[in-house]
Order: sequence, then C-alpha cells, then structure tokens
Amino acid sequence: MEYLKFGLLLLMVRVNTLYGLWDLSVLKNTYVVDISESGEGENVIFECPVVEETKVYWLIKGNQRPGRILRTHVMEDIDAGNFTCHRLTGELIDYKVVLLNTLSHLNQRLLPGKQPIQCEAQNYSGHFKCTWKRIKKHVQYIFEAQRGNYTITCEKPSENNRKYEVNCHDNESCQYGEESHNINILLHILDEKRYENHSLTFMLRDITKPDPPAELKISSTSLTWSYPKTWCNVHSFFPLIFNVNITKGNKSPEHHQGIDVPEMPRPPNGKFSFCVQARDMYYNSSWSEWSCSKHNKPRNKQAKKQKKKKKA
Ligand SMILES: *[C@@H]1O[C@H](CO)[C@@H](O)[C@H](O)[C@H]1NC(C)=O
Ligand SMILES: *[C@@H]1O[C@H](CO)[C@@H](O)[C@H](O)[C@H]1NC(C)=O
Ligand SMILES: *[C@@H]1O[C@H](CO)[C@@H](O)[C@H](O)[C@H]1NC(C)=O
Ligand SMILES: *[C@@H]1O[C@H](CO)[C@@H](O)[C@H](O)[C@H]1NC(C)=O
Ligand SMILES: *[C@@H]1O[C@H](CO)[C@@H](O)[C@H](O)[C@H]1NC(C)=O
Ligand SMILES: *[C@@H]1O[C@H](CO)[C@@H](O)[C@H](O)[C@H]1NC(C)=O
Ligand SMILES: *[C@@H]1O[C@H](CO)[C@@H](O)[C@H](O)[C@H]1NC(C)=O
Repeated sequence: MEYLKFGLLLLMVRVNTLYGLWDLSVLKNTYVVDISESGEGENVIFECPVVEETKVYWLIKGNQRPGRILRTHVMEDIDAGNFTCHRLTGELIDYKVVLLNTLSHLNQRLLPGKQPIQCEAQNYSGHFKCTWKRIKKHVQYIFEAQRGNYTITCEKPSENNRKYEVNCHDNESCQYGEESHNINILLHILDEKRYENHSLTFMLRDITKPDPPAELKISSTSLTWSYPKTWCNVHSFFPLIFNVNITKGNKSPEHHQGIDVPEMPRPPNGKFSFCVQARDMYYNSSWSEWSCSKHNKPRNKQAKKQKKKKKA
C-alpha cells in the first residue's frame, strides 16, 4: 500500500514536470520551459541528488533556498538560469540549467522567417550542406541530422560570410537505389536564457542542385560541354539534361530546352556565345547555375586567318 502511494506521488511529480518542462537531451542537465502565448509560465520542481537527511541548499537567482527539493515558477527571462545545489560548506553537488522557449510569432523568433534553413546537395554522394542567417554573436547552435533510424554525421556549424553553414555526410545513403526515407534535420538555438529549435525534412533528390556544366567548347560543327566534375561518375545511372541559350550580339537569347546529350549542332555563321545549365534528367529538382562560353570568332574570319598562317 505504502509502495503504491509512493508510486502515485512519483507519477504526479512526473506528469507535473512533463507538462511544460522538458529535458534538452543534447545538453547535459539542461531543461526547456515552453511559454505559451497566454504566458502563464510553469511550476518547476528539481531534486538535489543526495539522501534525504543531507543538509543542502539551492542557489537560485542569487538567493539560497534550503532543502533538497527546489520548487520555482518560471515565466520570464529573469526566472530562468543556472540553478545549483550545494552542501552547507558551499561544495557544488549538482546544477540544472533552465531555458525559455517563448512559442512566439514566426517573425519574433531568434531565427525569424517561415523556412530559415536552406539545404543543398551537388550530387547524390550523400554530402549536403545546410545554411542559415547569422543572428548575433555568442549564440550556440547544435545541429542534428537523421535518416530513418540512423544518425547522419555532420560537422560543427561554422560561420562563413554572415551565414552559418554545416556540412553533413550521409555515408549510408545508397547511391544506386531509390531513397526511401526522408532526411530530418534539427537545429537547436541557445541565446543566453532563450531556446528554440527548427526542423526540416527532405529527400536528397529534392535538394540536389548540380554545379554548372564545364568545358564549354565551340568547334566548327558543334557546341560541346561536359558534366560538372562533382556530378556522380556513373553518368548512365545519373544522367543530366541541359538547357542551352545561344546569344547573337544584343539579341535576346535563343533558348533550347531539354537536351539530353552534352552537345548540339553549331549555329550558322556569325558571332555568338552560348550558356548551358543542367538538371537531373529523371527528377524535377533544381537547375544548376548557368555556365557561359566566350564569344566565338566568326567562322569565316577564322578560316581566313588560318589560310594566312598557312601561306606564311
Ligand atoms: C551551470 O553551473 C555549473 C556549476 O557551476 C557549471 O558547471 C555549468 O557549466 C553551468 N552551465 C551553464 C550553461 O552556465
Ligand atoms: C533501421 O531500419 C532498417 C530499415 O527499416 C532496418 O533494417 C534496421 O534493422 C534498423 N536498425 C535499427 C538499429 O533499428
Ligand atoms: C557511417 O559513419 C558512422 C559514424 O561515423 C559509422 O559508425 C558507420 O559505420 C559508417 N557506415 C558506413 C557504411 O560506412
Ligand atoms: C523542439 O521544440 C519544441 C517546442 O519547445 C519541443 O516541443 C520539441 O520537443 C523540440 N524538439 C526536439 C527534438 O527537441
Ligand atoms: C559530391 O559533392 C561533394 C560536395 O558537395 C563533393 O565533395 C564530392 O566530391 C562530390 N562527389 C563526387 C562523386 O564527385
Ligand atoms: C536563357 O534564356 C532564358 C529564356 O529566354 C532566360 O530566362 C534566361 O535568363 C537565359 N539565361 C542566360 C544566362 O542567358
Ligand atoms: C517542376 O518544378 C517546377 C518548379 O518547381 C514546376 O513549376 C513544374 O511544374 C514542375 N514540373 C513537373 C512536371 O513536376
């Protein structure tokens, strides 16, 4: 009977604390209180890990609170922080960090906007990169990625040109098969006493944007180019299609769509340049940036020059 009562009490404490306080598992001893729009806050209970008779106190907001059990109400920034439990000698026993997540309007979030994280891949090798805007200094970012039931390895986020970026490598992505599970990413943001998280779900094929085509050449009969170096080596498994623009003088470009080999016939005489972009042939993902040739020398002039050279 006593045992049952004790169990019930434990359960109540659990339910109570689970309501709006949760354990941020990526950081030791760190908890988040969700503050809703109504902003009533949350009653928080912590227990110092010592046997019952031990004399201890909690240090919270600069005040000593005697006893093992700490009860406090968390509503605003001032209520959050690092609560520490000490022996009467002052020796530190334990600590609990409490952060606030104000579930506020999209534009008032630490990282504002509807979809503040962008992810991109250049091929199907399993490497991808995610970026987001730098908000201010001294903000801690923790980035996680998963596919199905396994964790994808990512580097630590680093600052680059007013943005943060993180590189990940899904080393188990089956390059030759269909992707069957989404990649889920999760970004935790900690700014002093504030916490929020952002997530994104995608397939690699949805975020793949090839590098621009390379080695654009104009020969006497054709225009040629090559697959970008970073595209998968096995081109027959991962073919690209191309769009080509041919520009003569100041005229608007002549647009050719959906070319499935890296070449096309050269246009008739005259000065021109051409640009090519690429995309996965079988999947409607992003087109690459354009890659452009220099202006050619008109064919007849070239021919004359060569004749002159031969004479000389
Ligand atoms: C909280 O305080 C403990 C004890 O002083 C310390 O070890 C820990 O790093 C602090 N954590 C934060 C986030 O301030
Ligand atoms: C993960 O999922 C795959 C496919 O659904 C399954 O074969 C594998 O056993 C799972 N692994 C673990 C550790 O759960
Ligand atoms: C992928 O990387 C993880 C972590 O580095 C490692 O444990 C796992 O064995 C790797 N899998 C393959 C197929 O290389
Ligand atoms: C992200 O934040 C929300 C709101 O605080 C929380 O309910 C959720 O558990 C968090 N997600 C993870 C994976 O920590
Ligand atoms: C795929 O792209 C990554 C960069 O995202 C690059 O490091 C890698 O070499 C590319 N893979 C192949 C097979 O070229
Ligand atoms: C190519 O042509 C299309 C359609 O006319 C145009 O939208 C695009 O801007 C052109 N791009 C380049 C690099 O010329
Ligand atoms: C391909 O994607 C573009 C832009 O996202 C969209 O406008 C177009 O309708 C899509 N086409 C197909 C066949 O899904």
